[in-house]
Amino acid sequence: MKTLSAQFFKICTFFLVVIITTTAGVSIPSISKRETVGKCPDPNFPEFVGSACNDQHSMTVQCKNRNNARNSNRQQCNQGENCIDFLLNDEVPFAMCVPVSKLLHWTNGNYNNQVCSGTIRFDSGTNGESISIGLNTYDTNGNLIQVFDVVGRVNNKQIGEVKNQHNYSQIYRQYNVHDIVTFCFIPGISNPNNPEYANEAIAYAYIVRLSAIGGKDVQVTDIEPVISQNNTLYIEN
Ligand SMILES: *[C@@H]1O[C@H](CO)[C@@H](O)[C@H](O)[C@H]1NC(C)=O
Ligand SMILES: *[C@@H]1O[C@H](CO)[C@@H](O)[C@H](O)[C@H]1NC(C)=O
Repeated sequence: MKTLSAQFFKICTFFLVVIITTTAGVSIPSISKRETVGKCPDPNFPEFVGSACNDQHSMTVQCKNRNNARNSNRQQCNQGENCIDFLLNDEVPFAMCVPVSKLLHWTNGNYNNQVCSGTIRFDSGTNGESISIGLNTYDTNGNLIQVFDVVGRVNNKQIGEVKNQHNYSQIYRQYNVHDIVTFCFIPGISNPNNPEYANEAIAYAYIVRLSAIGGKDVQVTDIEPVISQNNTLYIEN
């Protein structure tokens, strides 16, 4: 009986170990909300300098060594992620692949109107923190496409604007929980023979807490997933 239960215990332990190992093996990608950020895989250029989206599914990462020699490499997003340009604290460009399901997205279709996003906000966390706001515009083939104008707003008050860019990145200080972030863009390059018509751009936007993405040295990070978004679209007149 004793040997039997000892045997049984051994078997159980064996299975337990197997179960734990398997779970630990898959837990990082499937359970945690880990966005993809640029890395410096070459040990000869270990230091992160900055990263920028290359297209909808990849980024270019700049790395350097102690002598400030630079090297850049291309990194792919995971399946189901889009690349978004953000800024780190000291205006360092920082691209991140964010699951599409988390992103605010909207499009002008082919109309030459200003089109505005739904809403995105944090519903938990601390008041008064800084957030990094990122938006990119892509064409229907997933290439970056310039738009004429992008504005960002917090609680309906304009906080920033860029013209003739495919990305809008801004740090907003003193963000309070439930503050609502929205965006509008005016598409680019309309056909001069038909001013009603514009190229279709799809905007993707996201907000992250700066404390969650850390500083320049951070190369992998978990971004707080507690975000409410409302993808209801509206056109501004
Ligand atoms: C935006 O795009 C430009 C051009 O690709 C790039 O240089 C810049 O780093 C990007 N990111 C930000 C945050 O501006
Ligand atoms: C979603 O956003 C729109 C536009 O701001 C607003 O009219 C609507 O009430 C919002 N819906 C919810 C459920 O928050």
